[in-house]
Amino acid sequence: MSELSVAEFLKTRRSAKVSTLQEPGPNASQLQEILEIGTRVPDHGKYCPWYFIVLQDAARRQAGNLLRQAYAAENPDSAEAKLELESERFLRAPLVIAVVSRVREGKHPQWEQILSAGAVCYNICLAANAHGFGTNWLSEWYSFSPTFKSLLGVDAQDHFAGFLYIGTQSEKNEERERPDLSNLVTFWDGQSQLKTGETCGMPGTGYPLAQWSAKI
Ligand SMILES: Cc1cc2nc3c(=O)[nH]c(=O)nc-3n(C[C@H](O)[C@H](O)[C@H](O)COP(=O)(O)O)c2cc1C
Repeated sequence: MSELSVAEFLKTRRSAKVSTLQEPGPNASQLQEILEIGTRVPDHGKYCPWYFIVLQDAARRQAGNLLRQAYAAENPDSAEAKLELESERFLRAPLVIAVVSRVREGKHPQWEQILSAGAVCYNICLAANAHGFGTNWLSEWYSFSPTFKSLLGVDAQDHFAGFLYIGTQSEKNEERERPDLSNLVTFWDGQSQLKTGETCGMPGTGYPLAQWSAKI
């Protein structure tokens, strides 16, 4: 990693498959630095519109029991094997950091505060990568579960920006296709139609827009 230039690193970075994240995770001083770098993001108005919940060691199992409870409450007919599987999600990596977005009172737009939480997630991933660890930024069902949020002690008004899974990567993820910039970039001249990326990505795989507002 250290021999790569920042640009080379950014050009080749990829998320790790969560199944490839193994021990060891970051030690205490690495974690401290990863979190410090995580907070070094643009934050218009200096609200710190985010906070962190660190799951390590036995806390992952303990929080996993809350996943089980939340899943069972929201899916009452679930088989025991499925509940067991859900309870083990945080055990997939040595370290899981939940980044929580909290919009704070003030004159700056809420949207900017939410974007800042996304920047924190990405910065934490990059910081962990810079320390040689693999990362995966996941939401999964529990990010949107009011039951899990409440069991974990997170205010109903807050949102999980991401669960960042961090560990030593056992195998590198293959390259994936990247968007064609010609569909996304308009060199504005006041006349041409804007390129809005409609032909980018996999059409039809997102949520219908009406469901989006329900998700956030
Ligand atoms: C906000 C956010 C939430 C995500 N949630 C999930 C998820 O729940 N499940 C999943 O399989 N991937 C999820 N992903 C995608 C993974 O992070 C995925 O590994 C990543 O997009 C791969 O791209 P990369 O290699 O360029 O990082 C999410 C990504 C983002 C930005």
